[in-house]
Amino acid sequence: MPGFELLERDGLARLGRLDTPHGALATPALLPVVHPDPDRQPIAPAEMARRFGVRGVISSAYITWRTPPLRARAEREGIHGLLGYDGVVMTDSGAFQQHAYGAVEVTPEEIVAFQGLIRSDVTTVLDRFTEPEAPREEAEQSLLTTMDRARAARAAHSGLLAVPVQGGVHDELRARAAAEASEVGDVLAVGGVVPLLEQYRFVELARSLVAARPTLRPGRPVHLFGTGHPLTFAFAALFGVDLYDSSAYHKFARRGSLLFPEGTVELEDVREPICRCALCEVAPLAEVRGWAPSDRERHLAIHNLLTSLEEVGRVRQAIRDGTLWELAERRAVAHPALRAGLAEAKRHPEVFLPTEPESRRAFREIGPESLDRPAAFRFRNRVAALRVRRGPGRTVRRIPLRPEYLRHLPPRDRSGNDVPWDVDTPFGPVPLELTDLYPVGPYLGLEEFAAPSRAGTPSALRASAPDLPDRTEADLDLWTTRQIGRLLEWRYGAETAGRLAPGLSGVRSRRSGRLKTIVHEGSPMFVLGTDGVPRPTFRGGRLVAAAAPLGRERVVVAADAVPFVRGGRSLFARFAISADPSLVPGATALLVDEGDELLGVGRMLLAPHELATADRGVAVHVTAHAGGPERVDPDDDAEGAEAPPDGRPDDVPER
Ligand code: GUN
Ligand code: ZN
Repeated sequence: MPGFELLERDGLARLGRLDTPHGALATPALLPVVHPDPDRQPIAPAEMARRFGVRGVISSAYITWRTPPLRARAEREGIHGLLGYDGVVMTDSGAFQQHAYGAVEVTPEEIVAFQGLIRSDVTTVLDRFTEPEAPREEAEQSLLTTMDRARAARAAHSGLLAVPVQGGVHDELRARAAAEASEVGDVLAVGGVVPLLEQYRFVELARSLVAARPTLRPGRPVHLFGTGHPLTFAFAALFGVDLYDSSAYHKFARRGSLLFPEGTVELEDVREPICRCALCEVAPLAEVRGWAPSDRERHLAIHNLLTSLEEVGRVRQAIRDGTLWELAERRAVAHPALRAGLAEAKRHPEVFLPTEPESRRAFREIGPESLDRPAAFRFRNRVAALRVRRGPGRTVRRIPLRPEYLRHLPPRDRSGNDVPWDVDTPFGPVPLELTDLYPVGPYLGLEEFAAPSRAGTPSALRASAPDLPDRTEADLDLWTTRQIGRLLEWRYGAETAGRLAPGLSGVRSRRSGRLKTIVHEGSPMFVLGTDGVPRPTFRGGRLVAAAAPLGRERVVVAADAVPFVRGGRSLFARFAISADPSLVPGATALLVDEGDELLGVGRMLLAPHELATADRGVAVHVTAHAGGPERVDPDDDAEGAEAPPDGRPDDVPER
């Protein structure tokens, strides 16, 4: 059954699988533009598949249609026969040619029918390409026309249909186009952006994607027409773009330019061995410069395709690792226009927050603007709200902050009143009890390595509060109780935390002093990973279910799936009846049946608002279930393991 499934994610970005009549396509994927005329292909698609594992390409149905010999062959052998390729073939409708070179004599109905006839895997509606400069009226007219054609195409075509999302730079039109395309399209193809990409207008591109994103149906793959420069792949993926297409690998080769994820390099300028890829090992670039033009063009096209595919691989790996913002920021350093685009994206955290994960393995700072990522924005807001409730504390300098410092700061004054401590972190002042939490706990950045100041050593910390009593043995228990209360408040809100906390105690790592487990009568109820987040065990889930208001923290499982979830199997999206809207990806949810009986606890893969439109795939990965073994040791769990993030010094003892 054709369709799209989300397998892994980092925020809006996702690893997915698009099933088509010619097999599955792993996304994000680059669909190289392939000319339908074999004489005009620097690399044949079969060679792309054989040598580089290219599983999908895009070609022009329009050029095929208007060129009699190509058309005759495609009608006979299908587009796959014409291209000599049995992977996934998406076809484009000619809207761009119409726009760039004038009239197209094909009708919208004809070109959709033709794509069906030649058995394209993904048929594209003939849209009206809308220039960024198009005034509102004109953009709206084009949008109405495109959508009428899309609805007619949907009625006429049963295969996968790509519906372009136009609207120019008019935010409300983009949003409307995205919503309407989502009603009929299998692939939602953001269009009209080639001028933005070619002219490095990444601020406007970011705005267009920000405007479209909230109304793009979450369970559908998103295509971005014309994303060809590998510089832009990570940027586009941040907004949840799943498919890139471009002829850039060939276009740049034709004019002697090399594509790299850090930018473009002119072959003419290359004198040194700047690339050590397999291709350059055999034919050094300095040598390629002297080749005959046609040999050079093919060689550069292959080179450009290789560097582009490699970057797609990096984007995919970054999504797995939860490091896509870092990769995008690193790429943005290459060009100020891209930096500006990324900054524009960060001015719209509301677009990212609904799918922003509860935590990641590390928070690696690339530059000062890293501290504007959605994760940091959310953290600062939540800390601010908490500090308003609690009142500001005495602030101590962070400088290498380690949890064992708890031991050096007295939690009470001489009269026995609580002393709240705030720690000055790169994210602003944070209550000491919360400094293990992502993004502070796994923060890896400049402050971690800058010259340490005496101000941060435990003895200096202690000396900074001469009015306070000496610390006693009982203080650490007091700190632990206070930390448990604060962490549960952080995660579940003050009311639920107030009901949960009594009777709980904590176990700290002997090596690092970190809080590892929260127990009740000797049984582990919550386990903390390197992200500092308390995650309930199955028994802990029972406690949370009793303490949290009905509906909160829960995902309700349809009767058909109850035995599977109870047996520890993942919950599929179509069996999720409802979910607490405050759950985010990565958060641990309580899985209950319709009678509110707890079946298991599990990690959210989808956000609650995505459940209804995901036709297939996992919604929640079950981590502990009724009658199953409890996983209590965080070291068993890759994400919960206590090893420090790579590159970061292990817990530092007192200096
Ligand atoms: N190729 C590049 N941009 C576009 C676009 O907006 N629409 C279509 N159909 N193809 C494109
Ligand atoms: Zn190379």
